[in-house]
Amino acid sequence: MSHLPAPSSDRSDAPTATLARPLRQLALQAAAVLAVLSLAWPYYGVRGEELPWPQTAFAIGAVALLLATLSHQPWWWRILHAVFAPLAWGVALLQIDPGWFLLASMLLLLVYRGALSGQIPLYFSSRETVHALAALTHGYHDLRFLDLGAGIGSIVQPLAAARPDASFTGVENAPATWLAGRVRTLATANCSWRWGDLWRTDLAAYNVVYAFLSPTPMAALWEKVGREMRPGSLFISNSFAVPGVAATQEIDVDDCRHTRLYCYRV
Ligand SMILES: C[S@@+](CC[C@H](N)C(=O)[O-])C[C@H]1O[C@@H](n2cnc3c(N)ncnc32)[C@H](O)[C@@H]1O
Repeated sequence: MSHLPAPSSDRSDAPTATLARPLRQLALQAAAVLAVLSLAWPYYGVRGEELPWPQTAFAIGAVALLLATLSHQPWWWRILHAVFAPLAWGVALLQIDPGWFLLASMLLLLVYRGALSGQIPLYFSSRETVHALAALTHGYHDLRFLDLGAGIGSIVQPLAAARPDASFTGVENAPATWLAGRVRTLATANCSWRWGDLWRTDLAAYNVVYAFLSPTPMAALWEKVGREMRPGSLFISNSFAVPGVAATQEIDVDDCRHTRLYCYRV
C-alpha cells in the first residue's frame, strides 16, 4: 500500500537473534550428550561398572560449553549449555513425578506461547509508556489504535479508558494472557479484544499500530507495515528498532526500564 525503506539484512544488532535458531542449541546439547555417552558407555561397560552420572553430567556440561564457545554462541547460551546437564541430573535426584513437569510446561505454554512459536516473550509496557502513547496520539481525532501482541491489555485498556472517543484493538494469541486481557477489557466499550495471530491481522484499518515484541520479528513486521498500513499512519515499536531503517521520531520514556519508542511515519 505504501513504500517504505527496506530493512537491511544485517541482524547483528539483535541481541537475541540466535533465539531464532532454538534447534541449533538443541543440536549442540545433543551433540555434547552423544559425544560423552559414546565414550563413557563403552568404557564403563567394558569394565562392568555402572555409569557415574554426576561425573557424566559434568562432562556433558563441559563438552557443551566447549562446543558453544567454538561455535561463537552468546555468553548466556554458553552458561546455559554448561549448566543444563548438571542441573538435569540434580533435578532427577529429587525424584519428582514427571507429571508435574508436564503440567508446568503446559502452564508455561498457556502464557509464553509466543516465545516458543515466534521468539516473542511476554513482558509488559510500563505505565509511563501508556502516558507517552496517550500524549503521542493526543492530536488524533479519528484514532484507531492497534496493539499487536497485546499481552494482558496493559496498553489498550488504560488508553481506551482515557479516550472514549477513539477505538482500540488488542490482538493476542497466548491463551492465558488473552483470557486475562479479555476480563480486563470487558467493561471498556471502545476496546476490542481479539484472539488471533498478529501476522494474520490486517493493519489497513488502523492509523496507529503499536508493537512491543522482540528483535526477531521486526524486519518481517516492517514489510507487513509497508504492505498494509495507509500512508500517513504511524507504526510504533517499543524498544526494538526496525533494523536498518531510521525512525521518524524516537521517544525516551522516563521509566525504570528506560523504554525507547521508535516511531515510523508510513
Ligand atoms: C512483550 S509482550 C507485550 C504485551 C503488551 N503489548 C504490552 O506492551 O504490555 C508481547 C506479546 O505478544 C504476544 N504474541 C507473541 N506472538 C504473537 C502472535 N503471533 N500473535 C499475537 N500475539 C503474539 C505474546 O503472547 C505477548 O503477550
